[in-house]
Amino acid sequence: MSSEGKTRALTIPGLRRMKEKGERIVALTAYDALFARLEDQAGVDLILVGDSVGMVYGGRADTLAVTVEQMVYHTACVRRGVERALLITDMPFLSVQGGFDEALRNCGRMLAEGGAQGVKIEGCAAVLETIRRLVECGIPVMGHLGLIPQSIHRLGGYGQRGRSAGEAAQLLEDAQRLEEAGCFSLVLEKLEPGLAARITGGLRIPTIGIGSGPDCDGQVLVNVDLLGLYEELQPAFVRRFAELAGPVREAVRDYATAVRLGGFPGPGEI
Ligand code: KIV
Repeated sequence: MSSEGKTRALTIPGLRRMKEKGERIVALTAYDALFARLEDQAGVDLILVGDSVGMVYGGRADTLAVTVEQMVYHTACVRRGVERALLITDMPFLSVQGGFDEALRNCGRMLAEGGAQGVKIEGCAAVLETIRRLVECGIPVMGHLGLIPQSIHRLGGYGQRGRSAGEAAQLLEDAQRLEEAGCFSLVLEKLEPGLAARITGGLRIPTIGIGSGPDCDGQVLVNVDLLGLYEELQPAFVRRFAELAGPVREAVRDYATAVRLGGFPGPGEI
């Protein structure tokens, strides 16, 4: 049983029921078994193995270099830490655009080898038919609209999306098309909050917001942002629920001092 007393594993239909009942969905990223276990025990509903792993653990400036192999590895690590939460994994840059067979093989690996219960795919027009066919093949797909980091060079920056009437209309239409293609949920990243609310109100599937205001059906954050461990970027929408980078540095400094002064190991630490 998790420390929050939630015992039943969450399913994809269960996520939809949460929207119908007006229960807000708590989502968070994880990349390893250690944090995944802590998050699952804390009662997180959905754990996303984000390709943000390339930035927060890989030290890169964007997500584009992340590979299918790396996502399979991180997904399998997270799987070993999760009992209750729904486990969804990101399909990396260009892993589903090279033809349906390749997309099916890559997505299938996330479920069969990684143990994910679904995959997340960014964008709409270029992947819509692929998503429809993946869902027909039994692979649950979460969509992702707004600021889609794999298109960072096309978008030109990490600013808010959906501010112009034209872009807002396109995003509203894309959300409808993704629901109709069979997506079980949509991530809305850095959307103008009023637009995120309109999209959420117009869909039967739940939306999970990040930097898109309070009116999505759930919220997702990158775990090391929430914990104050990732200091490279500090988007305004991130609330740090802890400040752990300082205490980590302090503990390591204390250890180094103890080793250098001969204070570690001490009596009884052998
Ligand atoms: O890669 C990621 O972590 C994500 C979430 C922030 C939505 O896509």
